[in-house]
Amino acid sequence: MSEPCIRPYRPSDRDDVLEICLRTAAGGGDATGVYSDDSLMPEVFALPYLEYAPDLAFVVDDGSGGRVLGYVLGVADTRAFVEWWKREWGPGFRERHPAPGPPTGRNPGFTEQQLVAAGSDPDRMLIAEVDEYPAHLHIDLLPELQGQGFGRRLINTLRAALADRGVATVHLGMDAANTGARAFYSRLGFHELPSSRPDAPLLGIATRWVR
Ligand SMILES: CC(C)(COP(=O)(O)OP(=O)(O)OC[C@H]1O[C@@H](n2cnc3c(N)ncnc32)[C@H](O)[C@@H]1OP(=O)(O)O)[C@@H](O)C(=O)NCCC(=O)NCCS
Repeated sequence: MSEPCIRPYRPSDRDDVLEICLRTAAGGGDATGVYSDDSLMPEVFALPYLEYAPDLAFVVDDGSGGRVLGYVLGVADTRAFVEWWKREWGPGFRERHPAPGPPTGRNPGFTEQQLVAAGSDPDRMLIAEVDEYPAHLHIDLLPELQGQGFGRRLINTLRAALADRGVATVHLGMDAANTGARAFYSRLGFHELPSSRPDAPLLGIATRWVR
């Protein structure tokens, strides 16, 4: 059996990526059944990225059957992505999810109301530092792939792709409750941005680094 390896995203990876998004969306843990519709989380935090910038999506292939175990998704220009979202993504999203669905009894910290609002309000991505840190990213690995260095390698793959396009910096927003991810980003050298808040951390990093 071959080893897992990082490669560019292919359209046939789509369902695996959406599944990984859902299975890592509850503060890093499984969010299956947490919201009234399992497609809601990927429709906000994965699918628009695959549609808008498939060339800035990289995956970890399991090395045998082409199954994907993890990904990093990015956009180079958050302002342009927000405009695209308003024009192309938002109308369909609002039609599919006009309001929060019936309660599931799971009461997540990031509520269904907040999730539906996030899908309908791309301006939330226009952080105060968006011009200094124009790119942003999302990264998720299934539990079986975690802790083996693939997260670091995925982040560096995206940083290199952004640097090649002349984008000097990248940022991310994260769930404050996800302390494992926070430790990971610190270890990689991400720093807190000025508008970061304890309940809504915002981190940034240069795309070029000394290898
Ligand atoms: C967070 C995540 C992306 C990290 O990827 P990973 O492959 O597990 O991390 P790596 O093995 O590449 O670790 C890189 C470094 O970070 C450190 N690190 C990773 N996870 C850590 C944790 N939970 N606590 C402390 N340090 C951690 C590692 O020790 C390693 O340090 P080293 O290079 O000095 O040895 C991954 O675990 C994941 O997808 N988790 C679930 C989903 C999630 O939380 N996504 C992020 C949402 S904001």
